[in-house]
Amino acid sequence: MKTRNLTGHFGAEVQDIDLAEPLTEDRFLELDDAFNRHSLLLFRGQNLTPEQQTAFGRRWGELEHHVLQQFTLPDHPAVFVLTNKQADGKPAGAHKTGWHWHIDNTYMPRASLGSLLYAIEIPPKDGDTLFTSLTTAYDRLSDDVKARIENLKAVHSYKYVYANKYPDRPPLTDEQKARVPDLVHPVVRVHPVTGRKVLYVSEQIIKQFVGMPFDDSQILLDQLNAHATQEDLIYRHRWQVGDMMFWDNRATMHFATPYDDVNHIRLMHAARIVTDAFVGELAA
Ligand SMILES: [Fe+2]
Repeated sequence: MKTRNLTGHFGAEVQDIDLAEPLTEDRFLELDDAFNRHSLLLFRGQNLTPEQQTAFGRRWGELEHHVLQQFTLPDHPAVFVLTNKQADGKPAGAHKTGWHWHIDNTYMPRASLGSLLYAIEIPPKDGDTLFTSLTTAYDRLSDDVKARIENLKAVHSYKYVYANKYPDRPPLTDEQKARVPDLVHPVVRVHPVTGRKVLYVSEQIIKQFVGMPFDDSQILLDQLNAHATQEDLIYRHRWQVGDMMFWDNRATMHFATPYDDVNHIRLMHAARIVTDAFVGELAA
């Protein structure tokens, strides 16, 4: 398998694979090894149906059905549509979503192993996605900070981010709220395959640290996020039509950047693989 590193510390492009073809067992094992080592795999020039994208994802595990069901494909509940397009006067997908540093689905009872994002239409400029390695970020913490956060836990809340970040969307229904109880995750997690420690933070989704006042929590969270998103940790992905990105939600976080959504269309299909590792506890 031919690969090219995307940065000096994480991410790789896999150059000689057509993801529309079924994966052989050998090829799957090779990709799985690359996925765990690089945390982020890019496949360019793909041409994938929702069936092919989800079949690829299912090799790693069960796929999630997004809590915002109105933005999933009717025939493919595991495919979440990200777009500014409209259909019949209504949004054809989720828009302005993920425009902050986050790990997908830390607020779901079953966390995410990885996400698959496939680019169908992209604007001529902007709309890039930024990625950072939370394992490198952890390694680079000072011993003092490592000691301070070793046993710290954080409350991850979808209701909190939804209310603060998406005031223009209709409120969550009671059924949607029931699917996303506030969850507690350790701030330092151990990657189940590599054994490396991960600085498990994010913006907006973490409401506060357990046992720490809200304001103090925000100060520490801002410090940890600033540390994890230093310029030289980041890989900025400039999308091309046909790109598929497969990232490890147990080792990275990402940030979707804005674009000119009045004059240009961006259309992406996302699928997320769930995992029973990294399960959060119900918040008190
Ligand atoms: Fe995301």
